[in-house]
Amino acid sequence: MSHYAGIAGYYDQLMDGGYYDHRAMSQNLLAVVGTGKKILELGVGTGLTARALSEADPSAAFTGIDFSPAMLEIARDRLPDNIRLVECDVAEMDLGIQFDAAVSTGGTWVIIRSEAGLMLGTHLYHAEKDRAGLHRVAEHLVPGGLLVLSVHPPHEDHSLQLPNGLVYSQELGKPSTDDAHFFIEKKYRFTRDQEHLAEDRVVLGFYRDTLYPEMLADAGFKPLGLTNNEDFFVFKKVD
Ligand SMILES: C[S@@+](CC[C@H](N)C(=O)[O-])C[C@H]1O[C@@H](n2cnc3c(N)ncnc32)[C@H](O)[C@@H]1O
Repeated sequence: MSHYAGIAGYYDQLMDGGYYDHRAMSQNLLAVVGTGKKILELGVGTGLTARALSEADPSAAFTGIDFSPAMLEIARDRLPDNIRLVECDVAEMDLGIQFDAAVSTGGTWVIIRSEAGLMLGTHLYHAEKDRAGLHRVAEHLVPGGLLVLSVHPPHEDHSLQLPNGLVYSQELGKPSTDDAHFFIEKKYRFTRDQEHLAEDRVVLGFYRDTLYPEMLADAGFKPLGLTNNEDFFVFKKVD
C-alpha cells in the first residue's frame, strides 16, 4: 500500500481543485453535528475539510486522524495548531478522549449510493479491520454520539481538468466478486501537457446492504438515515 507517498501534493491539488466542495460539505456537516462540538475526522487527508470546518465553527474542537504521513505533513502545514492531528490506522485508534461526532468525508468510510442500493465504501482491505475500526470509532464517541459518512455516486472512469494545466484521470477495474463484500481497483494519474507526472492505484472495498448494516449494529450504531440534501448518512451510537 502506498499511503500516498510521492503523490500527496498532486492529490491535494485534486481535492482543492473541484473534486469536493469543502465549504459546502462543512456547512452541511455542522448542520447535522451542531456547533461547539468535539469532532473527530476519520481520514483527515490534507486537511481541506478540517480547515473549512474550523473556519465555519471556531468554537468546535477538532482532531483528525490519518495513516498517511505524506497527507498529514500537508495537513500540518495547512491547519492551525489547535487542531490535533494523529497518525494512526482507524482500526488501531486509541486517542484517550471521546467526541460528540466522528465524520468521514471521503475518508476511512463512505456511503455509495448506487442503483443496487446503498453500500459502505472502505479504504481498508479486510472485513476484520473494518469491524475493528467501527468498534474503535464507537469507543471514541460519547453515548448518543454521531458517525457521519459522506455519500457519493459509484466510482467511474473520468478525467478532471485542474488549475495550472494539471489533469487528473481515473480508471476503474471490475468488481472482484458478486459477494456482499467485494473490491474494485482504481488506477489514477496526473498529467500536464501529455507529460506523465505521477500515478498510483488504490483497492477500494465495498459492502452491500445485506452486510454493512449488521457490521455497524455490531459496533453499536443505529442508522438515522440520509440528511435532507442526501450528502451525508448519519449513524448514532446506541446509549
Ligand atoms: C480522500 S482522502 C480524505 C479527504 C479528506 N477527508 C478531505 O475531505 O479533504 C482519504 C484519506 O483517508 C485516509 N485513510 C484511509 N484509510 C485509513 C485508515 N484505515 N486509517 C486512517 N486513515 C485512513 C487516507 O490516508 C487518505 O488521506
